[in-house]
Amino acid sequence: MKENQRRLFLKAITSIPILGGAVLAASALIRYFKPTTVGGVKGLVAPPDEAGSSIQVVAALSELTQPWDFKEFIYIRKSVEYSSRKIQGAKIPGFVVRMPDEFTDPKDPKSKFVVVQRICPHLGCTFNFVKSPEELAGGYNYKPPAPTHPYFACPCHLSVYDPTRKTDVALQGPLPGKVVSGPAPRPPRTMSFDIKDGQILITGTEGGGVG
Ligand code: FES
Repeated sequence: MKENQRRLFLKAITSIPILGGAVLAASALIRYFKPTTVGGVKGLVAPPDEAGSSIQVVAALSELTQPWDFKEFIYIRKSVEYSSRKIQGAKIPGFVVRMPDEFTDPKDPKSKFVVVQRICPHLGCTFNFVKSPEELAGGYNYKPPAPTHPYFACPCHLSVYDPTRKTDVALQGPLPGKVVSGPAPRPPRTMSFDIKDGQILITGTEGGGVG
């Protein structure tokens, strides 16, 4: 009797892994035929480009009335993510700078502003808007020519960008922020914008720029 009980016990123990394997295989099969449908059937058929970034207000014109007034902001770029959350947002820092009249087109109100990502196109550090020529020379190894004005400058490998100068057309250009010093391969990435009801609204941004 005791021997029988021992055999039964051993049989039961050895069948546990087999049963576990069968349950796992069955659940995989069930999930294959009945996948997770977060958001319902509509979520499965939604086109991937449905989730465009929304238009975002980043500054009021009243904050940028004088030449070289500037404002830093964060733009949330949304993109489709192939997961149950479906959409992810990247926080992209940017600058909007009010340009002096000599660099603007009187017929084009948008030409008064330079709007760029703050992410350095070299290796992705966040660059600064530097007004002081002494700081440019001492901190960024760049002696600006006279008459001086502010520059975008990156603290990581000392790339310096001139907001008053544009690149050649060859580089998707003309883009503001010509590289005047350091290793950056191109000007800062641009952001498209509109001016409406006394506000600056970002409508999109060039791809890339988030490390
Ligand atoms: S990351 Fe800006 S210069 Fe290298």
